[in-house]
Amino acid sequence: MTLDIMQVIKKRVSVRRFRPDPVPRELIMQLLEAAIWAPNAGNIQPWQFYVVTREDCRRCLATAALRQEFIASAPLTIVVCAEPERSARHYGDRGRYLYCLQDTAAAAQNILLAATALGLGTCWVGAFDEEQVRGCLNLPAHLRPVAIIPVGYPADETTRRTQRRSVEQVCHFV
Ligand SMILES: Cc1cc2nc3c(=O)[nH]c(=O)nc-3n(C[C@H](O)[C@H](O)[C@H](O)COP(=O)(O)O)c2cc1C
Repeated sequence: MTLDIMQVIKKRVSVRRFRPDPVPRELIMQLLEAAIWAPNAGNIQPWQFYVVTREDCRRCLATAALRQEFIASAPLTIVVCAEPERSARHYGDRGRYLYCLQDTAAAAQNILLAATALGLGTCWVGAFDEEQVRGCLNLPAHLRPVAIIPVGYPADETTRRTQRRSVEQVCHFV
């Protein structure tokens, strides 16, 4: 079954319960391929992706994410990292504090949408202690962890639990 883009966008929900089945390597590679094709300022691509399957490391990340233990229950976690100085070399503070975060956010969203299209569940996790995440992954100093994305097959039917403010409430036609 192929889904059109609006179906994928609306089907994506945050999944916090996963089956233990591993995510096949071919699917992992498709998620990473989706990530690297995200739009990014000046095509600088200020990002690195850590693909974590080791259980001790997944547990470490769950603890670093303010003990959000559901993270460790996913068989795979992708940690999206920004390279602020790579952006800063081209764009100064705007690159360091804005573009590299926007670029990595776009990459993270691509991962979420690709995962949805592939029948996988994800959750964007942003609440974490950066230094602790750094320790779990032994990250070099020039990388800043931006998003932790647990990935796996959803344990339950993925039905939407959240609503949105309407287009009328948030859009302005000028
Ligand atoms: C920047 C960001 C940070 C988030 N951090 C967390 C988090 O730490 N833990 C969590 O369970 N969900 C987190 N979420 C997921 C949101 O709670 C979720 O996207 C929102 O409630 C809307 O629900 P939906 O994703 O099912 O549409 C985060 C999402 C974003 C975009």
